[in-house]
Order: sequence, then C-alpha cells, then structure tokens
Amino acid sequence: MGIRLREPDEHAKAMAADTHIPVMLDRTIELLAPALERPGAVMVDATLGLGGHAEAFLERFPGLAYIGLDRDQNALAHSAQRLVRFGDRITLVHSVYDRIEEVLEELDIRGIAGVLFDLGVSSMQLDRVERGFSYSKDAPLDMRMDDTSPLTAERVLAEYDESELRRIFYQYGEEKLAPRYAKRIVERRATTPLTTSAQLVALIDAATPAALRRAGHPAKRVFQALRIEVNQELASLERALPAALDALEVGGRIVVLAYQSLEDRIVKRELAARSTSTAPRGLPVELPEHAPVFRLLVRGAELADDEERARNSRSAPVRLRAAVKLRAPHPVANKPGARKPRAA
Ligand SMILES: C[S@@+](CC[C@H](N)C(=O)[O-])C[C@H]1O[C@@H](n2cnc3c(N)ncnc32)[C@H](O)[C@@H]1O
Repeated sequence: MGIRLREPDEHAKAMAADTHIPVMLDRTIELLAPALERPGAVMVDATLGLGGHAEAFLERFPGLAYIGLDRDQNALAHSAQRLVRFGDRITLVHSVYDRIEEVLEELDIRGIAGVLFDLGVSSMQLDRVERGFSYSKDAPLDMRMDDTSPLTAERVLAEYDESELRRIFYQYGEEKLAPRYAKRIVERRATTPLTTSAQLVALIDAATPAALRRAGHPAKRVFQALRIEVNQELASLERALPAALDALEVGGRIVVLAYQSLEDRIVKRELAARSTSTAPRGLPVELPEHAPVFRLLVRGAELADDEERARNSRSAPVRLRAAVKLRAPHPVANKPGARKPRAA
C-alpha cells in the first residue's frame, strides 16, 4: 500500500461493509471494462470512499492494479481493511483528487487505463453526526470531509463577510433567499456565535417567510452551499478532471457519477470540450490533429433505473457521464478552447 494509514476508529470499524451500496455499479463496470481487461492495467479511483466500487473492480478484473484516493482518512482506513485480501494490487493514498497528477508521478505511473469519480460524501460521512453535514441532526458545524483540514462551516459562518456568505449561498446553494440569510447570520454573530447545526437551522427557519418556502427544508440549500465551500468541492473538481483526462492512455476510459447539478455541469462542459473537433470553422477537411481526443460513451447523462432508485435512495439524483480517449492530443491544437474564430 502507498501510505501509512490511520487505524480505523470505532465508527469505521463498526460500519458493516454493505452499508454503502455502490451507485450504478454494473453500468460503471460495463463502461470501464474494455480498458481494464489487459493484465497490468492501472485504474485510479479518485473517490475511494468505503471501497464498494473498488472491491467489485478488483474482483472482476484479476490483473488490475488499483489506486484509491480519498481526502478522508477514516474512509481510507475502512477501505484498507476491506481490501486487504487484494495485497499489493491496491495502493491507497490520502490526497485530494486534484493532486492526481502529482500522485501518479510519485508512484511513477505514466498512463492509466481507467478513472472513476463517484463524487460527494460517503454514507459514513453522512452518518457521522459529529461531522455536522446533516441539517436534521444537531451537531457542531464542521462539514469537513478531511478532518485534518483547517476550514470548518463554523469558521465560514463566523469569518466570511456578508457579501461572501451571500455569494456562496447563491452560487453553491442556488438559494434565492441568500441575501436575507447572509444578513441574519451577520446580525446574529455580532452577539452570539453560531456553533451548532440546530442553531443554524433555527435561524434559517425564522428568516424564511411562509410564502417563500420552496420544496424541501429551507436549510437544505444553505447546508449544501456550506459543504461545497468548506471542502472547495467545485474548484477541486475543475482542477481534477482535466488532470485525470490527461493521465488516461489511448483507449483509457473515464466514468463520473455526480449528484448535484453544479458538479454535473462541470463534468458535462469538460467532456464536451474534449470530445469536440478543434478544427477552425470553414475548413473543408478536418486535419487529424483537430479531431476530438475523446468520444462520449453515453448520450447526455445517464440516470439510475427505477429498480436501483427504489433499492438505494442515494442513487436518485445521480448523473453518470463517461468517455473514451481516442488518441494522444496534439500539444496545441487540442487544448480546450483552441478553436479559432470563424474566418472572415
Ligand atoms: C460517494 S463517496 C465514494 C463511495 C465509493 N465509490 C464506494 O463505493 O464506497 C465519495 C468519497 O469521495 C471523497 N472525496 C470527496 N471529494 C474529494 C476530493 N476532492 N479528493 C479526494 N476525495 C474526495 C469523500 O471523502 C468520499 O469518501
């Protein structure tokens, strides 16, 4: 294994392996399989979590070497135990996925056959009341996926100025009442700090006029926004996707499972840019260096089927996108955005 791992704590030990059901598992395997059959193929699981996908891939492809990344040391410790029988076929690394390029360099790996991103939080993180991810359970306002990183939701609420709070609620929560909530938070913290999720839920509840209540709990979008900010989820994905696509060898494949529209938009945009010709408009024949480097493997975004949604509620919002690398990119012609303006 690639790193010295933390001992699993009591919660990780207590978690049965099947409490996190991997989402769209069969479809994910089916889409990545053509790249993984070759002995010695290397796959990167950018979001190892509790190792559900990992275990299935390692069982299905006996020649596969598997690199699992996670920013959460408890998840890594749990997965290390779960996957121990695969011996040196697995390498687990405590890292954010935006460091994928550096991690591969440190492991001296030059090209990978497959990469999987199963975004968001794991069921273990959600179940840990003390992490404060849930608006329905009272806990300290933490929300860190990596409990060694410095920024917590409590600090965001205490330190960000009103306009920054407004921006994150608007952008990351798509919350129309962002100005109202930001103002109330700043008023409140002048006298008493917000330290628990129940205090924040009560404040949001009180600040939401009955006539403006939308579907779902009014705190849901604010909690989503805080989680995205604390973990820098969108910026991290924006850096990681291009690096992962660059790391794929020709014939290599990527699958991404996204659970909220902001993340899915980033995935859609990046895959579309890579699977579009960069030939200047009006050119009668496409030169080979302008041909798309990737081909999309599914039309639009694929959803979990009814049976899976009924069995596993976590799969309800999932959007799956996938692509295969067709050729090595030309250094300049295939840079996303390299399309020249239409000739006059
Ligand atoms: C939905 S879970 C993955 C579940 C996994 N596929 C399984 O079957 O058990 C997502 C995992 O990604 C991790 N994660 C989220 N953002 C990350 C990032 N920027 N870098 C590394 N890991 C991240 C979380 O800590 C979490 O454990």
